[in-house]
Amino acid sequence: MLSMPPRQLGAPATVMVRPLLLKPQWMNGLSERLLVSHYVNNYGGALRRLNTIRARLAALEWARVPVFETNGLKREELIAAGSVILHEVYFDSLGGHGDNPPTGLEEPKAELALALERDFGSVMAWRAEFTTMAKALAGGSGWAILAWSDRLGRLVNQWAADHAHGLAAAIPILALDMYEHAYHLDFGAKAGVYVDQAMANLNWERIGARYRLAIGEGAEDDKLFLPFGAPAQEEARISAEELKTVLDGDDDRQPLLLDLCLPRDLPRRTDMLAGATMHAPAALPSWVKELPRGRPIVVYCICGFQVSGTAVTELRQRGYDATALVGGITAWHAIGGTTVPLDASTYEDG
Ligand SMILES: [Fe+2]
Repeated sequence: MLSMPPRQLGAPATVMVRPLLLKPQWMNGLSERLLVSHYVNNYGGALRRLNTIRARLAALEWARVPVFETNGLKREELIAAGSVILHEVYFDSLGGHGDNPPTGLEEPKAELALALERDFGSVMAWRAEFTTMAKALAGGSGWAILAWSDRLGRLVNQWAADHAHGLAAAIPILALDMYEHAYHLDFGAKAGVYVDQAMANLNWERIGARYRLAIGEGAEDDKLFLPFGAPAQEEARISAEELKTVLDGDDDRQPLLLDLCLPRDLPRRTDMLAGATMHAPAALPSWVKELPRGRPIVVYCICGFQVSGTAVTELRQRGYDATALVGGITAWHAIGGTTVPLDASTYEDG
């Protein structure tokens, strides 16, 4: 079953990282440096903070906690959780189909286009309100959010001054990050140019899927929330959190780590997981001969798209116990996983 829906996976004790669904090196006018820094440092930072706060809360003896500590932790939990969720909506909303640079010419389709017409008069009228609202947040911080409200029975453009600001019970289906960290690296203080550029990178298929999920009609849309080219079978994937637990543990069946990278992507790499060996995907027929049978193998690439996905499918067909790291080394960075400097000495040339 395909299952990477925009909801929590696994045990609720840890809020798990969601992979990037966009290809950060192939966006129109939004740089890889900006997107990856934003994802790892700001989204990942909020996620790590949220999990730390939740662990702290879980260990409290409620009868003895001073009021200021309760207030402080619950306030910070709300802010961190809001940041995690809105950043996930934001990153999911960007990026075309993952196999081509986004065209920027797409418009909302089907139900969502009709809903925008119904609630705003036209898609153009919705866009004018949404982008004006976003640009009005320039120089400060906050979010421009398109949300579905059951109570109001319509889509609303919702202004948010911070991560904890939301229309009660409304479900965000598109969120545009207006914090300076979302654009400063590429656009300096030109927030308006950033808004137009982000709008030209929207993935309307996924935004439409979020709308259908919000109105209770989206059960079949899970595959849209899986990284392009990742293995479809759940047992062929491993999350960053699961891998970290295994590597931090003292299980003597430690997985073999394979770092796969296309030759053209080598210049994008600076680090790797400790103990991993690096290989060229095209040289699989030669390096596969060196792999041990009966030992788990974890394959990762930069973002967990088809480079690791294709290799894992091939290895599993050959009978190896191989899994692909969901979200790749980028998701690993986002959960605060440690790495070592890149060692490409095992990489096959040509
Ligand atoms: Fe952000």
